[in-house]
Amino acid sequence: MTLEQTFLMIKPDAVAAGKIGRIISRLEDTGLKIERMELAQLTFEQAAANYAEHKGKPFYDSLIAYIVSGPVVKMVVSGEGAVAACRKLMGATDPAEAAPGTIRGDFGLTVDANVMHGSDSSASAEREIALFFE
Ligand code: RTP
Ligand code: MG
Repeated sequence: MTLEQTFLMIKPDAVAAGKIGRIISRLEDTGLKIERMELAQLTFEQAAANYAEHKGKPFYDSLIAYIVSGPVVKMVVSGEGAVAACRKLMGATDPAEAAPGTIRGDFGLTVDANVMHGSDSSASAEREIALFFE
């Protein structure tokens, strides 16, 4: 394992429901280090760039509308194997299938409003950190 950075985002449903503190606690309890953190309203352009891989899919328009619907918490988090560690903490994309004990399993109900985003690779993390913080 190597020390790496990942990009995480607490999505609008979880911010609106007051879950920020509990989600951050899970990251810190796991030993991950929060390097940068900011409450932000995403622009349409940032949302489209982040989810460019999904353009044209049936859920794309509602995904973009949802992610700009309210403030999010964007973060740069680091640790040994941070990308995979965070994906594991988050659980499956659909909260209905995410295991109990995972963030999506415990705090989410629907695939559309699924609590968190986390980079799926080191290359994605690098691209997303540049997109959201630089
Ligand atoms: P994310 O990018 O948000 O961290 O989620 P992910 O990697 O686990 O899942 P991904 O395949 O990248 O999908 C991005 C977001 O699109 C929504 N989605 N809806 N209705 C559907 O079948 C469907 N599939 C994906 C989810 O909100 C997912 O987080
Ligand atoms: Mg993804």
